[in-house]
Amino acid sequence: MRKTIIAGNWKMNHTGAEVRETLSALIGYVADKGMPEVIVAPVFPYLGEAVSLAKETGVRIAAQNMHWKDSGAYTGEVSPAMLVDVGVSHVILGHSERRTYFNETDGTVNLKVKAALAHGLMPVLCCGETLEQRERGSATAVIEAQIATALDGINREEIDRIIVAYEPVWAIGTGKTAGVAEAQEACSAIRRKIAGLYGKDLAAAVSVLYGGSVKAENIAALTSAPDIDGGLVGGASLKADDFAAIIQHAVIK
Ligand code: PGA
Repeated sequence: MRKTIIAGNWKMNHTGAEVRETLSALIGYVADKGMPEVIVAPVFPYLGEAVSLAKETGVRIAAQNMHWKDSGAYTGEVSPAMLVDVGVSHVILGHSERRTYFNETDGTVNLKVKAALAHGLMPVLCCGETLEQRERGSATAVIEAQIATALDGINREEIDRIIVAYEPVWAIGTGKTAGVAEAQEACSAIRRKIAGLYGKDLAAAVSVLYGGSVKAENIAALTSAPDIDGGLVGGASLKADDFAAIIQHAVIK
């Protein structure tokens, strides 16, 4: 019904040689059928090369961010049209590091989601609460608000072209994984919110990933939960062997 997806977010890591080496090794591992869909997000300068390497393999290439305009006086930015031009298929949007360090808001994330869809790019839309918000008991409300704003103006025909990633901020790069029950509860809240906006059937087709210290040891338990359809992996996606182990252990429901 919906895809199981394992996505690797390489963040600001890997120079050209490392991208080539890691991606080539990974491509070797994911040749088999019956595996989750695999997405890798290198940094901008190597996207074109990564697309060429991954052509006609099971690996899709994503950007880690983009601007929402096609072109213009936006020094240092990259447009959706440019990502399409180099052959990228997916784009991570609204990652908490973008929100925290680069002042991204639910409003700009919404502009980006709309622009990605308009250009035929599949957004990996990130949401998630901080530790303070969780301790205050407002995790679900925060996630629901992030989803509602990010999807504002997205129509029924477009919703199945979006992947959502639930990434509790306190679990990213900290070694602390949300418990399976906690992650399931949040992913199910996301699906309920999407169902409220678009109906149950459309919500059932959206892949919702969990992210935050995913590793080979916890991916099976996480993906066994009914509403967790894969992982968005940072640190453990940097080495091909580690990432391949995660892909192999993911449960396809
Ligand atoms: P992590 O990062 O796996 O290193 O916690 C996840 C992410 O930021 O997407």
